[in-house]
Amino acid sequence: MTQSLILRRPDDWHLHLRDGAMLAGVLPETARHFGRAIVMPNLVPPVVTGADAAAYRGRIMAALPEGADFTPLMTLYLTEQTDPNDVAAAHASGLVTAVKLYPAGATTNSASGVTDFDKVRGVLEKMAEIGMPLCVHGEDTDPAVDIFDREAVFIDRVLDPIRRATPGLRVVMEHITTADGVAYVQANDADLGATITTHHLIINRNHILVGGIKPHYYCLPVAKRESHRQALVQAATSGDARFFLGTDSAPHIDPLKENACGCAGCFTATNTLSCLAEVFETAGALDKLEAFTSLNGPAFYRLPPNEATLTLTKGAPVAYPAKIQTGAGPVTVFDPGFPLHWQVEA
Ligand code: DOR
Ligand code: ZN
Repeated sequence: MTQSLILRRPDDWHLHLRDGAMLAGVLPETARHFGRAIVMPNLVPPVVTGADAAAYRGRIMAALPEGADFTPLMTLYLTEQTDPNDVAAAHASGLVTAVKLYPAGATTNSASGVTDFDKVRGVLEKMAEIGMPLCVHGEDTDPAVDIFDREAVFIDRVLDPIRRATPGLRVVMEHITTADGVAYVQANDADLGATITTHHLIINRNHILVGGIKPHYYCLPVAKRESHRQALVQAATSGDARFFLGTDSAPHIDPLKENACGCAGCFTATNTLSCLAEVFETAGALDKLEAFTSLNGPAFYRLPPNEATLTLTKGAPVAYPAKIQTGAGPVTVFDPGFPLHWQVEA
């Protein structure tokens, strides 16, 4: 018996596309299945101004395969020098959808991020006024805080104070990894949403560390213990409109992952939808998949859902490449560790 599932074309509300040869290599993997993506600004140097975003958007459009049905939604990288008026103008023109807050030092290319949150108060107040979402990498970077506690500590020490000080600020907690993150979203109103990645729905910290270190499962925030993964699955499959897909698909070439100081990031663009269908089916929640991939995100960002659809068909295990070859080098595709039976129809 063939089982199939028709979804509105999904969007990815947190994606790393990089630049140059890597951009050219990974963009088709996302554009194949996704209608839109919130494109992260952590290039070197970062995408800081409206002019930077316009130039980067141009490079993405130029790299798109012929006939692709894909729109990049641009973000600005918040620094302590960011000009509130530049942000507001870039938003008003439709060029930029959101601003990204990286605590300095939290992750890949975050050195230009924020150390003194008082210095970005003016930008945040302007964003609250114009209804522009702030996407937050929620990890406390105090070296005294254990890496597995950084999300929970960030909520208490940074995020909650910022939200209290800036009424009306619309915030997306990016790639939440803990039951604490889930609970914080659930305890608040519709101005607070959260993205959840594909890989955090599938792996816990044992997958990274037991039986030898697995660099391709290392990402930030790092995967936590199994009870946290279960809380994420419950949130994602609940249908609660405040939770939506942001893959955080983050390509690094294999030599930089398989390294004495390996980069953080899981590359999931290629097989994300097959992985998610498996996760939702196992949770008995296939009927909630479309909300997570295609409806809740647009609702938060106040955009219409995509009109086009995508069909997933269940059958024999799906073949997908172990790596994709880019002009920058090979990039390993996320291995969920179980067979995938749901194929995206071409
Ligand atoms: O694992 C990650 N990779 N987490 C991030 O926050 C950044 C990303 C990247 O840019 O590689
Ligand atoms: Zn990211």
